[in-house]
Amino acid sequence: FDKLLKTRSLSKNEFEFLILNRDFVLDDVYRSAKAITKKFFNKEIYVRGLIEISNCCKNDCYYCGIRASNKNVNRYRLSKEEILDSVRLGTELGFKTFVLQGGEDGGFKDEDLIDIIKNIKTINPQTAITLSVGEKEFDVLKMYREAGADRFLLRHETKNREHYYKLHPKSMSQEHRLKVLRDLKTLGFQTGSGIMVGSPGQTIENIAEDLVFLLELQPEMVGIGPFIPAQGTPFENEASGSVEMTVFLLCILRIMFPKANIPATTSLATLSKEWRDKAIEYAANVYMPNMTPTYRRMDYSLYKDKACFKIEAAENLEELKKLFGSLGYRVVMSRGDFKDV
Ligand code: 5AD
Repeated sequence: FDKLLKTRSLSKNEFEFLILNRDFVLDDVYRSAKAITKKFFNKEIYVRGLIEISNCCKNDCYYCGIRASNKNVNRYRLSKEEILDSVRLGTELGFKTFVLQGGEDGGFKDEDLIDIIKNIKTINPQTAITLSVGEKEFDVLKMYREAGADRFLLRHETKNREHYYKLHPKSMSQEHRLKVLRDLKTLGFQTGSGIMVGSPGQTIENIAEDLVFLLELQPEMVGIGPFIPAQGTPFENEASGSVEMTVFLLCILRIMFPKANIPATTSLATLSKEWRDKAIEYAANVYMPNMTPTYRRMDYSLYKDKACFKIEAAENLEELKKLFGSLGYRVVMSRGDFKDV
């Protein structure tokens, strides 16, 4: 652990050893991550408005509630006006970043998304736009970038090839996913990646491989959250991932990437408010309240009982400010760009 603190990096074997022996260093890890987060973010929490633009998806990931073959999903695709209305509402509330997230929906044409990106920039040219719409080709990503998209989230899910194909059907390509991540960096997107903690078949060695991969990628954002089983998926009866392990890994990521934007994710909040608060206290500097039109929110169920009302909802921003305020944190409404200074 001392070596990690000094060099901000470890080898795969060292990461594996650290994770296996985490109980012996837990207090030091929490304390160090907390000090680093305070130093770089000064107890400020950035907020992003999350708009779930479509739950249609051509992929069939074994873990995901909106996988193509789940027949029990009420499929929707927000219209351009619904998305822009959400952005207008959020802009009035003071949000300066929106995350447009959706399944890999062929019904959403590249031109549509480009048009939406441009329109958001006319509502407020200062708004940062983050896309989270799955794997796209270089030329398409380039068009998004030129239209004004600033950031892109694409979790690698797992670096280990065997594990990747335990989570995804053979028709999907891990090579392609990793290529897209490199393309995003090439195109100058602030790029986010990450994993689910405790996904079926995941070993400690796999997590160590993920950490080494993230060191190579040098993402500007890292999103991790516990796996939660989703109804109507092959993994519906599997156990959820550990919230303790999630917070431990958030701390390790904070030490590895002091300036990265790291959210306390919805899946963590869904399993435990207490551990969500610990994530904020030790390592996370971002929160993403849900801004999807309320009549669609329940249909975007990546997993069971997703938290999307109460403080998970953008319309309750004041409550979020109060809650984080009581923990000693200030919710700030700036764009919260990655600053490599
Ligand atoms: N549990 C937790 N996270 C999930 N995701 C998808 N399905 C689940 C699940 N059942 C995560 C994936 C994806 C992100 C948008 O949501 O990591 O990249």
